[in-house]
Amino acid sequence: MTDSVQHFYNDLADHYHRVYESWQGSIDRQAAALADLIQSNCRVSSPEILDCSCGIGTQVLGLAKLGYRVQGSDLSPKAIQRAKVESVNRGLDIPFEVADFRTLDSTMGRTFDVVLTCDNSLPHLLTEADLDQALARIGTVLESGGLFIASIRDYDALLVEKPDSTTPQVTGRDDDETIVFQVWEWVDDGRTYWVRLFVMQRESDSWRTDEFVTQYRAIRRDELTLALERSGFADITWLSPEQSGFFQPVVVAYRRKCLQKPQAYRRFYRRDRRPSSLCYRANY
Ligand SMILES: C[S@@+](CC[C@H](N)C(=O)[O-])C[C@H]1O[C@@H](n2cnc3c(N)ncnc32)[C@H](O)[C@@H]1O
Repeated sequence: MTDSVQHFYNDLADHYHRVYESWQGSIDRQAAALADLIQSNCRVSSPEILDCSCGIGTQVLGLAKLGYRVQGSDLSPKAIQRAKVESVNRGLDIPFEVADFRTLDSTMGRTFDVVLTCDNSLPHLLTEADLDQALARIGTVLESGGLFIASIRDYDALLVEKPDSTTPQVTGRDDDETIVFQVWEWVDDGRTYWVRLFVMQRESDSWRTDEFVTQYRAIRRDELTLALERSGFADITWLSPEQSGFFQPVVVAYRRKCLQKPQAYRRFYRRDRRPSSLCYRANY
């Protein structure tokens, strides 16, 4: 599994920004939503943050720009290489490491107040055992009571629909025109699927097409909640995009030992947030 995921993101690293209509726009929007979540949920006023699947830097670049102390790690050396370049180009000072989040403790050798893994990184783990291992290791690099934030696709809905493709996204004009879309092939187990990501770029009168292939396991929210509980996390809460401002469902949880929520956290839930089917708390 690791090799194929690593190849996918190594090959994609130079093109990755093309999956966004505007990468910089997404960087800024995601950082604003994450900053709100961190401010509202973290016990530490100036937290040290690790993004353990940072890719080319979509979340860390924006958070660093907002003044947060961030570090990035990722399985893909090419993605990390590009994240370093993007960080230098923006005048940001962000330490980066190549690291598998299933063995994070051996690479990091230190703890953080917040650990993030955003945009559907955990579903690259194709077995429950791998997911448990990753969450347990993420726990070891979190301070006791530290905050974990993850976002994944809305698999509760997608497992009902089982779509076989995504809507093509067309950006740019003339020679800059790019079309990005995905074809999904569901495996017989009903839970895993192959993704064929196509990036088409206009080159004068013709199109250049690059294809990238990887695999995901559709993880339902209750499954991730149970895995978090098994792996030493508590006070687990899911937030819908409407509630968090982030584009995917987000889960926030705390490394167990500190079950007391900070005042700011309680205020966050009293504040003008309407209940929704996505927002529920696991009880302890
Ligand atoms: C969809 S990308 C998201 C990247 C980044 N968070 C973003 O939003 O641009 C998923 C990321 O998860 C990383 N990843 C997948 N499996 C991993 C693992 N076992 N350890 C660390 N990173 C992993 C990939 O290399 C990839 O960069």
